[in-house]
Amino acid sequence: MIVLGIESSCDETGVALYDTERGLLAHAVHTQVAMHEAYGGVVPELASRDHIRRLVPLLEQVLAEAHVARTDIGAVAYTAGPGRAGALLVGASFAAALAQALGVPALPVHHLEGHLLSPLLAREPASFPFIALLVSGGHTQIMCVTRVGAYELMGESLDDAAGEAFDKTAQLLGLGYPGGPALAKLAEQGTPGKFKLPRPMLNSGDFMFSFSGLKTAVLTAARERELSAQDKADLAAEFQEAATEVVATKALAACRQRRLSTLVVAGGVGANKRLRQRLDAAAARQGVRVRYPEMELCTDNGAMIAFAAALRLQAGVAAPRNDGAFAVRPRWPLQEL
Ligand code: KG4
Ligand code: ZN
Repeated sequence: MIVLGIESSCDETGVALYDTERGLLAHAVHTQVAMHEAYGGVVPELASRDHIRRLVPLLEQVLAEAHVARTDIGAVAYTAGPGRAGALLVGASFAAALAQALGVPALPVHHLEGHLLSPLLAREPASFPFIALLVSGGHTQIMCVTRVGAYELMGESLDDAAGEAFDKTAQLLGLGYPGGPALAKLAEQGTPGKFKLPRPMLNSGDFMFSFSGLKTAVLTAARERELSAQDKADLAAEFQEAATEVVATKALAACRQRRLSTLVVAGGVGANKRLRQRLDAAAARQGVRVRYPEMELCTDNGAMIAFAAALRLQAGVAAPRNDGAFAVRPRWPLQEL
């Protein structure tokens, strides 16, 4: 069956076609980064309007790339939450209308489940059970995953998400939006340890995180004196060391606690090279395999939504609708799935 996936929870419009027999047929993403840049962050109303403009052309594009006719689509999956209400509504209403017109089911998908399962779509796919490290702009969570639909939350951030900390720190250093990739790039020119930043909750003995103090420590360092370009790079490098050390240490501790030998990394911060280096090195020492999504599927995309829906359908845990109705849940804890 061919599943069409629609992602519109934040500032990326993603559309993809996934075939349960042949795998991913095509996927296309339009990012709104340039549009929101001038405002230093996502403007919800602009985001929603842009999703409306992009969906039809992106759908036409993936159909053409995959040589698939609209009538070949067997189900339409869409991100139902969590995310920005207006943005979610665009994708959800589009998906529900298209599904009804085609006479196929519409499948609401949890955005984080999409991220979580995306490493199973990679060339070297992970297999169950595994520990999942979810590090995105909105979430920092460690989960124990035994099968599709069984996600046990082991720990999460008490305040800012890891990606949010990268973004806010980047903003403090004048790097604009979205800051994560820019901060990582600047860190390459810096030396960690020139500034000293804390490793919040590194030794808390659990799987909880806190990143707001780290961000405040950067702010304090930045206020103490006028920062040169090199200072900024050094501060970026130290921030990246601190954040990735805490995340990598806890993810591997979770593997030890559950005696699991596969760690799956998902979400935008999973694209961070230093985090990958640390995870790979520490995992090799304790006999753990680390699995990442393909680089282009680390950040928001429609492929992970189509894929998660297909897995749910196959596992018999999906809730298909065929009545034109749809609902979005801007706040939606994954455990409530
Ligand atoms: O998963 P994602 O695309 O969107 C959410 O669902 O949040 O993650 C976006 C987050 C942003 O905070 C962005 O700054 C961060 O991922 N990010 C990175 C890198 N690439 C993206 N953070 C650090 N290093 C990177 N290379
Ligand atoms: Zn995301």
